[in-house]
Amino acid sequence: MWKIEKMLRRDVITVSSLFLVFFGGVTSLRDVKLLVRPSVVIRNGTASLICSRDMQGAPLYSVKWYRGNHEFYRYTPLETPQTRVFGLPGIYVDMNNSNGSQVLLKHMDITLAGNFSCEVTADASFATQIDTKFVDVVCLPTFDPVLKADKDRYQPGEILRANCSSSPAKPAANLTISVNGEPLLASETSLHPSESGLLWTRVHADIKVTPDLFISGRLRVACVATVYDVYKRSAKLDFFTPEADPRPERITLNGGATACGTFNKWILLFLLFFLPMLVSSDDYTLDDGGDYYDDNTRLRQAALTLIHL
Ligand SMILES: *[C@@H]1O[C@H](CO)[C@@H](O)[C@H](O)[C@H]1NC(C)=O
Ligand SMILES: *[C@@H]1O[C@H](CO)[C@@H](O)[C@H](O)[C@H]1NC(C)=O
Ligand SMILES: *[C@@H]1O[C@H](CO)[C@@H](O)[C@H](O)[C@H]1NC(C)=O
Ligand SMILES: *[C@@H]1O[C@H](CO)[C@@H](O)[C@H](O)[C@H]1NC(C)=O
Ligand SMILES: *[C@@H]1O[C@H](CO)[C@@H](O)[C@H](O)[C@H]1NC(C)=O
Repeated sequence: MWKIEKMLRRDVITVSSLFLVFFGGVTSLRDVKLLVRPSVVIRNGTASLICSRDMQGAPLYSVKWYRGNHEFYRYTPLETPQTRVFGLPGIYVDMNNSNGSQVLLKHMDITLAGNFSCEVTADASFATQIDTKFVDVVCLPTFDPVLKADKDRYQPGEILRANCSSSPAKPAANLTISVNGEPLLASETSLHPSESGLLWTRVHADIKVTPDLFISGRLRVACVATVYDVYKRSAKLDFFTPEADPRPERITLNGGATACGTFNKWILLFLLFFLPMLVSSDDYTLDDGGDYYDDNTRLRQAALTLIHL
């Protein structure tokens, strides 16, 4: 008699927990969110994948992290060991900085760019929620953009043909040409693959030169290269009114063929030995003075001296 009563009660418990799974369990877990810091990862850098949730008092059964459909890290508080790493090419989990709330990934390569997910499961009810975020791993251009014009000086009425290119990156850098600080909307942009599987960008603009473009005798063409908000570099060319004498100087930092992330060792040597002596400031913002041109001229003279040695 007592035995039957006990069996009955167990059945009631089973039925009620099943009931919880299908009806009540869903409310025991909510707001599962995956937060990635930083939101854009620079190649070889680290990223924290933070998985926040509101358990509403329910016990935690597991938290799983995925890249695409492949699980690479699991936290199960009731098992030993509590954390497990599943080998996945290119995934390096920093175990010292990973726990049930976040995973730290090191040495991220551009091939890892993709969807990452975290999935939380509550105990008893086995209610599960998942959140997915796209994580971009970028490779920044190695060199500053290079801006060229077809001539050194222009008469009003002539067309100034400007080209600007940015060294290989992933994703390709965005390039904008501006005249006296005003971005040109009608410019042609093209993307070109590089050997290293990256893309370099070129933009071309035809500018009709009018007298009013020479503000205080100077017409400034600039080109800005950006990759999201993690990279911003510019190059500029100044043109003077036809009467004024100073010869325009160009910024020509060459070396576009070098793969992203690697430096030609001669350029590196050159920079190591000569740059500290020649350049007092490496601030290439649009608003700085004309000093950079002089530095650049001296840089090129030094480079010529080096070649002649
Ligand atoms: C992780 O911590 C252990 C013990 O504190 C230490 O020996 C090890 O070097 C650490 N590993 C990393 C990658 O920091
Ligand atoms: C997980 O690790 C992070 C960073 O090391 C730390 O801030 C956080 O408090 C840890 N969380 C738990 C639940 O241990
Ligand atoms: C990432 O997930 C979104 C939807 O969540 C999907 O549209 C996209 O195709 C996925 N991207 C990759 C690279 O799998
Ligand atoms: C700009 O690029 C175009 C297309 O490659 C080329 O024909 C032109 O000569 C270039 N102009 C300058 C000033 O480099
Ligand atoms: C380039 O610009 C477009 C439009 O503003 C933007 O959607 C895109 O994210 C930018 N790409 C990069 C790599 O900065």
